[in-house]
Amino acid sequence: MNEPYSPAAPRPMSSPSPSTMKMFVCFLAVFIVAQTIGTVLFCLYLHMKMDKMEESLSLNEDYIFLRKVQKCQTAEGQKSTLLDCDKILRSFQDLQRKDVGVSKEHPKFEMQKGREHSHAKGRNETAAAAEKRQPIAAHLAGVRSSRAVSVLEWTTTGYAPMNSLISYREGKLKVERAGLYYIYSQVSFCTKATASAPFTLYIYLYLPTEADRLLLKGLDTHSTSRAVCDLQSIREGGVFELREGDMVFVNVTDSTLVNYSPGSTYFGIFKL
Ligand SMILES: *[C@@H]1O[C@H](CO)[C@@H](O)[C@H](O)[C@H]1NC(C)=O
Ligand SMILES: *[C@@H]1O[C@H](CO)[C@@H](O)[C@H](O)[C@H]1NC(C)=O
Repeated sequence: MNEPYSPAAPRPMSSPSPSTMKMFVCFLAVFIVAQTIGTVLFCLYLHMKMDKMEESLSLNEDYIFLRKVQKCQTAEGQKSTLLDCDKILRSFQDLQRKDVGVSKEHPKFEMQKGREHSHAKGRNETAAAAEKRQPIAAHLAGVRSSRAVSVLEWTTTGYAPMNSLISYREGKLKVERAGLYYIYSQVSFCTKATASAPFTLYIYLYLPTEADRLLLKGLDTHSTSRAVCDLQSIREGGVFELREGDMVFVNVTDSTLVNYSPGSTYFGIFKL
């Protein structure tokens, strides 16, 4: 049955010309390569897309959490049994506490816009008006002390301001309001011919729990050949972001050399 059938019909079909065969193989190869490249690209695309999806999902979760917190803070939301308000509010408070912890740990001189902002919101009109009438500023004159001191001491003078929002204690000026402050000091002093180390004026931020932070520093290496005192001054000043309760003080390498004649040694601060 098979014998007469096969030679007749399928022969031309099963053995196509070699050139057609070559073309077909070429086409097949190109197709497979294209397919492989396509698959790889698609996988890459899918991977990137998944990453993005994950990101947006986590953002979405954050958003939903915030919405829940918002709802829980309304009276209706608190009644709703669908929301586990206690748990949500507790985790929100935990987050806030962590945030406060972080900002406490961090050094004081980062520009903390948020801090300033919330502070400004908390201040009421009366206080703001009072502040406008009386600028927050202090200017103190140096006081001679009998021994060498590690923190220079100061006193108010008749003509200079001393605002109630800045307090003075044992050489340190303390600000009661957070904000940007200009801090300055001048110290006049005698150099001795024998002095080897430069006379240096420092302004420090006092940190009760850690090492004090240096804000400003001025040096003078000039020394005289004469035995008598050669009077000179160092002056320095700069703007710093202070927090409520921050204290600043001045010290010098050798406080016994400081000259306290009127107007020559002073320390001041004002809020911008
Ligand atoms: C604003 O602050 C002043 C003093 O800081 C206070 O006496 C006054 O009651 C406050 N006013 C309001 C509306 O909070
Ligand atoms: C000045 O104060 C800083 C910070 O407290 C301290 O490290 C330094 O020893 C003081 N300098 C002098 C000369 O007392």
